[in-house]
Amino acid sequence: MDIKALDKKYIANTYARADVVFTEGRGAEVFDETGRRYIDLGAGIGVNAFGLSDPIWAEAVARQASKLQHMSNLYYTEPCVKLAKLLCERTGMRKVFFGNSGAEANECAVKAARKWAFDKYGDESHSTIITLKNSFHGRTVTTLSATGQDAFHTKFGPFTPGFVHASAQDAGEVRALAEQGGCCAVMLELIQGEGGVVPLTRAYVDEVVSIAREHDLLLIVDEVQTGNGRTGTLYAYEQFGFLPDIVSTAKGLGGGLPLGACLLGERVEHTLGAGDHGSTFGGNPVSCAGALTVIERLDETLLADVRRKGELIKTALTGAKGVRSLTGLGLMVGILTEKPARDVAAAALKRGVVVLTAHEKVRLLPPLIITDEQLTEALTILKEVIGE
Ligand SMILES: Cc1ncc(COP(=O)(O)O)c(C=O)c1O
Repeated sequence: MDIKALDKKYIANTYARADVVFTEGRGAEVFDETGRRYIDLGAGIGVNAFGLSDPIWAEAVARQASKLQHMSNLYYTEPCVKLAKLLCERTGMRKVFFGNSGAEANECAVKAARKWAFDKYGDESHSTIITLKNSFHGRTVTTLSATGQDAFHTKFGPFTPGFVHASAQDAGEVRALAEQGGCCAVMLELIQGEGGVVPLTRAYVDEVVSIAREHDLLLIVDEVQTGNGRTGTLYAYEQFGFLPDIVSTAKGLGGGLPLGACLLGERVEHTLGAGDHGSTFGGNPVSCAGALTVIERLDETLLADVRRKGELIKTALTGAKGVRSLTGLGLMVGILTEKPARDVAAAALKRGVVVLTAHEKVRLLPPLIITDEQLTEALTILKEVIGE
């Protein structure tokens, strides 16, 4: 079967796919249809936290699939409750709404923030959400509006109103928008992932947190990409010294099955009531059974190892020929290269290393369990490709 030709014929043309068909994998190694081995520094865009065909995750998923694969949210089921309890215990958040993706987690965050303001003011006068320029929050019409990049604000209008975009460097812009009134929340990615692995500075975040507190705005942190151990803590906000009111997450949470979560803190714990939100598949037992094995294993030993391997990457690439700069935290790394990032990614793939790009950067989001040997082998190749 010519998979590539059939894909071109039958799959909507929304993806510019690389010229490879992957068929199976183990840990941080993935194999194409010819049996060729690649080292995976992309993890399905930060999804496969414990790598490919992770036996612990696969066993939990298979066991749950053969017991109860789905039940409507009209009834109680065990895996989503266990997962929500664990997430709340690990974060200090109070309640969880489960969806199936990052965009849906953010949709819930937007609804929760607006409903909180509606309950407080009795109308929709405080429905505006401040998000940051260069952010990315998803592909639904509302999360495209939330996304602070002009390139996403065309072709599909009319877009959802009620989002304003502030500088991610100058907190004065956040303050000016907050002072105009009508806002209910500020929404941030602490490291702008799709925007090019651009971390916010601690000083900027500190200022935004105090602006939000002064103006009674909720703090929403989009941890879709940064969450679930990716940056070396369970959630990245832990490294920025504050507790958000709402955290959205997805990607690594499900370990490879679709799962998103919106974690609701104390201020919005009682905001959403019966009928205010819902999802047919949200909190699906199989996805949640797999996710439990992900969160349970993200202990301090593993997180310290993520931080160590992040440093290993930085040490290997800092000052290397063709590398201009490195950004990121833990195993979320952006590399600004002299060559166009796309060319580096294509050349690396040819040499058996899977990497991602984000804007003008090469982006690495390897599985958290990648071994030092695999990482060293991949970095040696990557260095050669970047320096050629
Ligand atoms: C920060 C952030 N938010 C939201 C999303 C959207 O997630 P999904 O593609 O699962 O809807 C992404 C995806 O890359 C993301 O990086």
